[in-house]
Amino acid sequence: MRHLMSPLDFTVEELDQILTLAGEIEKNPGKYAHTCEGKKLATCFYEPSTRTRLSFEAAMMNLGGNVIGFSSAASSSAAKGESVADTIRMISCYADICAMRHPKEGAPLVASLHSSIPVINAGDGGHQHPTQTITDLLTIRSLKGRLDNLTIGLCGDLKFGRTVHSLIHALSRYENVKFVLISPEELRVPGYIREEVLEAKHMEYKEVVRLEEVMPELDLLYMTRVQKERFFNEEDYVRMKDFYILDKKKMKLASQDMLVLHPLPRVNEISVEVDDDPRAVYFKQVQYGVYARMALILTLLEIEVD
Ligand code: NCD
Repeated sequence: MRHLMSPLDFTVEELDQILTLAGEIEKNPGKYAHTCEGKKLATCFYEPSTRTRLSFEAAMMNLGGNVIGFSSAASSSAAKGESVADTIRMISCYADICAMRHPKEGAPLVASLHSSIPVINAGDGGHQHPTQTITDLLTIRSLKGRLDNLTIGLCGDLKFGRTVHSLIHALSRYENVKFVLISPEELRVPGYIREEVLEAKHMEYKEVVRLEEVMPELDLLYMTRVQKERFFNEEDYVRMKDFYILDKKKMKLASQDMLVLHPLPRVNEISVEVDDDPRAVYFKQVQYGVYARMALILTLLEIEVD
């Protein structure tokens, strides 16, 4: 039995198979419509979510399976003091697979150690978000045709943004990927990512503050929201929240085939006037998220469709 805590839990080949399966599901959804009949997914969300929880649920329903779960810590027995370890022991009796989101880094890992069903990390604090990464890889591969030879700008809250951490880990395994890390000084990527991934793998990267100056060199721009809920004081958040606003004027500086991705939710960092630009693919990315999660559920449940 396998769990998914980090994108690195899969080899590049395994990830490739998941992306290929997701692509096949996109082309022929009917073929997969009954593959999870009789199976249940539990969504255990101790932190707010719209896309991740609902796309997991939609994914399981598209496969013919059922869904149970809770969407806040307050509505679960966590409010009575139950530990994650006890909760997953119990969930293991009800469901076949579990997607868990938790504000504490490592909580899904703790759950996986006490679980008899596969546990998927659906976001743990400011740490990792591997299913968003599979979604991002699928979006990039589908729309750019490759995962190598790319210059990727990551912009916004690179300190607390778990989607960015997981994406850097995952993309560090492809050839000739260059990162342009665009953030205010206070929100640069954590030291452990710089040392354990960027430096350790001798990746080409640079850290800049101004978005305008790097726009022309990017193949992809991955925008992120300033992670309000991880700030220790409101004042710092207010100072930082509108640091970047991608608008039509800035988009003019980019190449004609640069794509804009965003894990969403968007707050102010992308002006709504950019939504109609054909290079803005963040809503398409949401659709890819469902195919990616369908492929992941089939893979972890070891269900083979000829
Ligand atoms: C992201 C998350 O939860 O980390 N959202 C998502 O799952 N698509 C990004 C965010 O909340 O900013």
